[in-house]
Amino acid sequence: MDWRELYNTKLVSAKEAVSKIKSRDKVVIGHAISEPSTIVDAMVENKENYENVEIIHMLPMGKTEYVEPGMEKYFTHNALFVGAKTRDAVSSGRADYTPCYFHEIPKLFKKGYIPVDVALIQVTSPDEHGYCSLGVSSDYIKPAAECAKLVIAEVNEQLPRTLGNCFVHVSDIDYIVEASHPLIELKPPKITDIERAIGENCASLIEDGATLQLGIGAIPDAVLLFLKDKKDLGIHSEMISDGVVELVEAGVITNKKKSLHPGKIIVTFLMGTKRLYNFIDNNPMVELHPVDYVNNPCVIMKNNNMISINSCVQVDLTGQVASESVGITQISGVGGQVDFVRGTNMSKNGKSIMALPSTTSKGTISKIVPFLDEGAAVTTSRNDVDYIVTEYGIAKLKGKTLRDRARELINIAHPSFRLSLMEEFEKRFKTKF
Ligand code: COA
Repeated sequence: MDWRELYNTKLVSAKEAVSKIKSRDKVVIGHAISEPSTIVDAMVENKENYENVEIIHMLPMGKTEYVEPGMEKYFTHNALFVGAKTRDAVSSGRADYTPCYFHEIPKLFKKGYIPVDVALIQVTSPDEHGYCSLGVSSDYIKPAAECAKLVIAEVNEQLPRTLGNCFVHVSDIDYIVEASHPLIELKPPKITDIERAIGENCASLIEDGATLQLGIGAIPDAVLLFLKDKKDLGIHSEMISDGVVELVEAGVITNKKKSLHPGKIIVTFLMGTKRLYNFIDNNPMVELHPVDYVNNPCVIMKNNNMISINSCVQVDLTGQVASESVGITQISGVGGQVDFVRGTNMSKNGKSIMALPSTTSKGTISKIVPFLDEGAAVTTSRNDVDYIVTEYGIAKLKGKTLRDRARELINIAHPSFRLSLMEEFEKRFKTKF
């Protein structure tokens, strides 16, 4: 059958599509901006017909009503990352978190560690061959759609058509719901003098021709501000946001010197404003691939001069990095942090950077500490860690002894905490600072 006829046979209302979801099904929802909101709203609306539908998601950016108090009977939530919208649900017991490297999530689905009954995806209208682009996410959602028993797609005519390994054919979709709505926008964060100082310190470690991975938030955006005089930078990153567009337009990011995928920006998902969404639409410079490719350390390492920049909540004096929990409170997830730290460590001339303000936002708590808070998860181990950067400078830890690491870290801690850290140093190492 021609794909156009096939398309018409699959076309249903959102209400009808979600009636195919059954109690106790495990439902994977498109990540971040790629959440098919019309279908998700209809699923929540249909809740009285469900018991224990398990929602598997990473970073929800939509309404996230299914984790609200009172929804437990209908939906359980398995967070593969914890973000602002799911923090309260996880800490109050209405949702749970599964520790996992981002690049391994497709494997968890494919091997059946986390079986996928239903995949809810957002796609563009089909092209002349019947292929729909997944737009702003290939990440775990393409693999999830490949192994789900049931695939329900929201065709959003406003979704940008991106290129790479991010297409689904109409014949691989079971039900199609048509919609037209703008994408969620992630406004650029506020950059204070502290982030600017951190950004400048990070930028001093970046040489012309380097390939960058940047996380999300004020620090990565601040780094970009200090790269305007660099030449021929490239991008191989879990995600990018608006700041990268500016550097492409300024001729700083050319991707010409990349040893893997020269000329291309390689990412697994995207989050930004309309500016980014216009830039990626049908743009052959940008390719989206599934996360088991982009974040695989063995792929990342093929980029020479790879630089990864991520952030964390605490670093202890030996270099153990906690990025996902404050004590036992899970506030985030490992995401792609360790994928990129390890891939970058294996890259020729690679440098992995952990960039953080020296204190929490009110300046009352040091992020460089003698010991991680009781119960904190170590996200990046002290064996993997390389550079730690604060607004006070750069600590190079790889290859250094415990004592030398502690000295380096105390030198970049906030001045008002240095004395107490030195006392801890002297107690621990039985040596004068
Ligand atoms: N002690 C107590 N509370 C702390 C803390 C500390 N040492 N560090 C952070 N917090 C609190 C903050 O006050 C904030 O609470 P609030 O929201 O009530 O104000 C909360 O934890 C989040 O911290 P913040 O510093 O604002 O987070 P951020 O938005 O700058 O993100 C990470 C920092 C570490 C959470 C983020 O980088 C992350 O998730 N990293 C892991 C995943 C990753 O690296 N992915 C990489 C590829 S994108």
